[in-house]
Amino acid sequence: MIPDQQRLKIAVQKSGRLTDNSLALFQRCGLEFTRDRDHLVCFGENLPVDLLLVRDDDIPELLNDGMCEAGIAGLNIVEEYRLGFDIWRELDFGNCRLSLAVPRDSSVQSARHLAGLRIATTYPFLTQRYLDGQGIAAEVVTMNGAVELAPRLGKADAICDLISTGATLKANQLRELEVVFQSRAALAVTRRAMTPEKRALLEKLERRMEGVLQVNGSKYIMLHASRGSLTAITALLPGAESPTVLPLDGQADKVAVHAVCRESVFWETLENLKAAGASAILVLPIEKMLS
Ligand code: PRP
Ligand code: ZN
Repeated sequence: MIPDQQRLKIAVQKSGRLTDNSLALFQRCGLEFTRDRDHLVCFGENLPVDLLLVRDDDIPELLNDGMCEAGIAGLNIVEEYRLGFDIWRELDFGNCRLSLAVPRDSSVQSARHLAGLRIATTYPFLTQRYLDGQGIAAEVVTMNGAVELAPRLGKADAICDLISTGATLKANQLRELEVVFQSRAALAVTRRAMTPEKRALLEKLERRMEGVLQVNGSKYIMLHASRGSLTAITALLPGAESPTVLPLDGQADKVAVHAVCRESVFWETLENLKAAGASAILVLPIEKMLS
């Protein structure tokens, strides 16, 4: 199936850490799509956008060649293969870390002790950059996969691999030494020229994404307060810009306060607001936001 050249093409990880969140993000941006039978492409029904489902390691190459205009990949991939694209924005999922690890019973206790030893990784650039920065002269052994097996196979003394839950590390009786690179998902955009139509569509999606990302974690708070307690209460609202203050019918001394809070609202926040004199406190989810 060859995708239509007129349509914007965005590469997304086929199956893995980023897949579900990536597809959900496009859905929240209003993109309706159907999957083809082979699950290789998600066809946008209401916008000329196709999501290409690929191996995450292939995304840099696709952007560099201009086969796709944009893609969602982990910063680990993006930073490892910096070529022909720019990071438009980091996203709020796919958190994981690239770490050095050794067999649980190894005598190596810190990265410094890796000098003169072999480190297996699928991220030779990031690993070498870290070692150079720390002044550690170790040998980086590049592998294509199954890095966690390298020590047992006698191919290396240590590994430098991605960790998210830590399950792989545990299953292979490895011990984490040091974090080399903190990663999360990002939207990367090709540096190749694209038609004005595609550029406009990409920018439309970027604006919607910005809105979705702002909404995540934001809440709308409504409460009643006496005019005298207004300053104290406003100061307690987490991450709120200038709140709206409205008069309350028949109550000269009281006002209603409405605010968008861009940080998490915890029970403690509500209890503190109440202690400061607020009443009738409501916390509402925000569905969409466009600034
Ligand atoms: C990474 C890494 C481990 C696993 C760690 O692979 O190579 O296998 O994730 O995750 P855990 O701490 O939750 O067990 P990745 O998902 O990048 O697979 P890929 O190399 O096939 O893309
Ligand atoms: Zn991968």
